[in-house]
Amino acid sequence: MSHRAAPNALTPTPDEYEHLQAVQTSLAQQVRERDGFMPFDDWMAHALYAPGQGYYAVGTSKLGAQVGTGDFTTAPEMTPLFGQALAGQVAQILAGSQSDEILEFGAGTGALAAALIPALRLLGIEPRYRILEVSADLRLRQQNKLEALQADILWLDALPEAFEGCVLANEVLDAMPVTLFRWDEDGQLNEVGVTLAQPDEIRFAPDLPPSPFQFTERAADGHLIDSISRRMPPLPAYRSEVNFQAESWVRQMGSWLRKGAALLIDYGFPQHEYYHPQRMEGTLMCHFRHHAHAHPLVLAGLQDITAHVDFTAMAQAAQDGGLEVLGYTSQARFLMNAGLTELLTQIDPSDTAAYSRMIGPVQRLLSEAEMGELFKVMAIGRGISAPLMGFLRGDRRARLEHV
Ligand SMILES: C[S@@+](CC[C@H](N)C(=O)[O-])C[C@H]1O[C@@H](n2cnc3c(N)ncnc32)[C@H](O)[C@@H]1O
Repeated sequence: MSHRAAPNALTPTPDEYEHLQAVQTSLAQQVRERDGFMPFDDWMAHALYAPGQGYYAVGTSKLGAQVGTGDFTTAPEMTPLFGQALAGQVAQILAGSQSDEILEFGAGTGALAAALIPALRLLGIEPRYRILEVSADLRLRQQNKLEALQADILWLDALPEAFEGCVLANEVLDAMPVTLFRWDEDGQLNEVGVTLAQPDEIRFAPDLPPSPFQFTERAADGHLIDSISRRMPPLPAYRSEVNFQAESWVRQMGSWLRKGAALLIDYGFPQHEYYHPQRMEGTLMCHFRHHAHAHPLVLAGLQDITAHVDFTAMAQAAQDGGLEVLGYTSQARFLMNAGLTELLTQIDPSDTAAYSRMIGPVQRLLSEAEMGELFKVMAIGRGISAPLMGFLRGDRRARLEHV
């Protein structure tokens, strides 16, 4: 179907190329079966999660702290201090819900659990740890990594009917498939989908392999028009996304989280920033070998695809599900409130090499220019009366507008 570019740092290996061809063939078949319009959320769901094909469904390395290992890194992968700092807040939620149960969604390589469980033990808590992971490959990696802890850990296959305790989701909402839309020049709203490329492939960027797909549009249905019109006014040629799946996941939590709180940690903003007039192309980002770009139609099944989180929509969904929004702040503020600075004072500064190894990732977590400000932490829950320690200073719930 496509010629191959001269090799560069982003050229797939022969095995990856074979996988790419298989995923593209399967997606092309689906585009044809849908008369040339595949909604982008279905496209993204297949590219990330289709059994045997999706990025998260197959055994590639994905998460890795350094260039050369995996495609991207996350806070728990960068330093155990992230999980250790979370421990105090998790302990407070467990106490408030009179439970010792934790449910982590999308646990990646298991790095958060590996840091959090020993830190909770130091606080005298032996948690019952539950993980719900949609990727069979990552589930296996989690099992291997966490075995040595000899902790009470169970992997769930479905949402619980009822749960009391602490729910954790670090960078999970951003990995849920989004619906794409675009206001056209006449103020009409269109849904953006995927079709076969004309003539037969498109090069989105010089260093990326070409794609046999391109974007296409059709008039949005009433549901999409209603929900987008409530979030932003029409802006000519403005394309963005809306995460209905994440909203319904949060809303549904109201039916099974009987007592306790969920900490949702992710990159994103309140709605007025999300749909800011200057953010004309939305927030879609892709990651392949630590290279970030904005072209989701290339490297299907080989790259991560994410969108930032609209935290106003998440707060609204939580309230629609009967949950309370207990706190919302930046990751930097949350980690400092939760005691990260005190943890740093426990590291021996005389061992300068070890100290700088520890301090570098912490600076990235806290720095406004890196993860400290872009990442946010939101707590939602029910039946927790005491103010949560992670939000005591710098709570920004008021910025979420209609909450
Ligand atoms: C970007 S990774 C983050 C991994 C890990 N939390 C970390 O911070 O290192 C996204 C994770 O979310 C998982 N995931 C996506 N949708 C999910 C869902 N609906 N339920 C549970 N896990 C999900 C993916 O399989 C993957 O493990």
